[in-house]
Amino acid sequence: MVTNISLNSDDFIGISLSKIPCNRDLASAVYIKVNEKFIKFKEAGDHIPEDKYNYFISMNVRELFVLKESAEIFFNAIDNYKKAEIVEKVLEVGESNRTIVEKFIDIRETVYEAFLEEALSNETVDILKNQVIEFVATVKHKNPQAELFAKLSSLNNTIAEHSLNVANLSLLFGMASGQTHLHVLENLYMGALFHDYGKAKIPASILEKPVSFAYEKAMSEHPEAGVELLKKNGLISKQVLSIVLEHHEQFGGVGFPKGLQGDAIYGLTKIVSVAIVFDNICMNNRGKSSMYKNAIKVIEYDNGKQFDPSILPRIIDVLKLGYGGYVRTRERKELT
Ligand SMILES: [Fe+2]
Repeated sequence: MVTNISLNSDDFIGISLSKIPCNRDLASAVYIKVNEKFIKFKEAGDHIPEDKYNYFISMNVRELFVLKESAEIFFNAIDNYKKAEIVEKVLEVGESNRTIVEKFIDIRETVYEAFLEEALSNETVDILKNQVIEFVATVKHKNPQAELFAKLSSLNNTIAEHSLNVANLSLLFGMASGQTHLHVLENLYMGALFHDYGKAKIPASILEKPVSFAYEKAMSEHPEAGVELLKKNGLISKQVLSIVLEHHEQFGGVGFPKGLQGDAIYGLTKIVSVAIVFDNICMNNRGKSSMYKNAIKVIEYDNGKQFDPSILPRIIDVLKLGYGGYVRTRERKELT
């Protein structure tokens, strides 16, 4: 229950939303700050649902607050969730892949931070780029099985998690397509992470009215909007901007915003496009044991239409290896 209270800012400590996991029990009550007033948002034991994260991103809400007296308990719980997640993931992917798991979880926290910032800061981009380079170098060196990426993927529907899934898939597809240069793979990963940045930043007032001209316009313009916002940060490369601009273009020429066709589309964008469609289909079918197989079938069907036939066969091979026989039993139970 939301309650107004007469506590002042000295009683609270702010915590970045990037550090608060969604769908996990909160160790203490959390508050939001509206017009300089602190309003109780969730009680201890509640959790923050994933759709609220997208809402907070579109509203530029970066922090929640806890009472100072509860801060230690709250931070300990966050720390324990993170440790438990690492243990759980390492059990799934094997001890030899621990570094990959740890580095990925660090990237995820920074990606949330990046999406939650009102304007992307150089500091965040700098941290993210370094984390991505380290992650990519580790993955490249270990040359892991495709199934590792299936196990790292999330079925959580926040825009940040979707972006992370797309980035991991793109890295996998890029390596399968013969891309080996570290900075090419870094651009591929960063472009995939930020492909929907323009969509994430559509104001909540527009997102709340999905049947409106303003909503349609914002959706159709989100690739250009993303580029305009990202361009303001001087550390985002032009390769990344190309991926953001073109991620809804289609090989056959019927995509948007420009209707580019064939090789007019940047090579790295073609890879990211497959990853986006694959993850969207999985998200739309989450909970179904056939979701990965169905997604692979849809991608295969679009060979030569939406996707470049010169790169797709290798991507399909890697998808079948990693995801073809993999069933997300744990999430299925959680979602039923
Ligand atoms: Fe998009």
